[in-house]
Amino acid sequence: MPRKPLIAGNWKMNKTTVQAAILAQDISNAFDERLDVLDVVLCPPFIDLKTVSTVLSYDKSPMQLGAQDVFWEESGAYTGEISPAMLAEVGCGFCIIGHSERREQFGETDEGVSRKARALVTRGIAPIICVGESEDVREQGDAVALAQVAAQLERSVEGLALGDIMKCAVAYEPIWAIGTGRTATPEVAQEMCANLRARLLVLYGSAAAEKVRILYGGSMKPENASFFAPLPDIDGGLIGGASLEARPFIDLAKAFL
Ligand code: PGA
Repeated sequence: MPRKPLIAGNWKMNKTTVQAAILAQDISNAFDERLDVLDVVLCPPFIDLKTVSTVLSYDKSPMQLGAQDVFWEESGAYTGEISPAMLAEVGCGFCIIGHSERREQFGETDEGVSRKARALVTRGIAPIICVGESEDVREQGDAVALAQVAAQLERSVEGLALGDIMKCAVAYEPIWAIGTGRTATPEVAQEMCANLRARLLVLYGSAAAEKVRILYGGSMKPENASFFAPLPDIDGGLIGGASLEARPFIDLAKAFL
């Protein structure tokens, strides 16, 4: 069975509630077709989740809702945190975890990412687990980058059972490509995604390696998406900048139809 492409728009810390409602509505209005063969997920800031959820359900949109982070506990004295149960209740089907901005600026560790992944799957939310190498590592050459990112994935899925990993997606996001306008070449992205799939094969066997969707993220735009879409181990994109306006986001997603 071919994997269904997944396009997730990571709005990061952009869009007030009013702006989020307008953007979700614009995307929903324009995204009319063939969503049965493509999963499109909008990941607004926590405070906008309810608003975007309302827009999508009012429109009976097949687009789905995702969060940008989560905490692994169910409830309790964790000031500022949001639990998987809260995300589930607001309608999130997906949650990005381990984004490099969280790893670099907020001290997120592989161990924390794996705990978040385990907590999400128990609530029926699909983790989108982000991995990717820094510029320094990339400069040490392909072999170093491949080994480092595969090891990062292995640590980030620690403790996930086979049934859990089947619910996850992985996003390969080279840090040097995020928000910089410097995309990885399709060859580099394909090689890395194939290597991540090979690691999943070793860890979980062929059913998981075949099923888990692996996305590319890092300055993907409508102009370059068609280079990534046909690659055998790239099953979609995690999109930052190009997800903040309806037209580019839709044009980009359509490259994967
Ligand atoms: P970008 O961000 O598309 O703006 O490079 C991608 C991401 O950080 O998920």
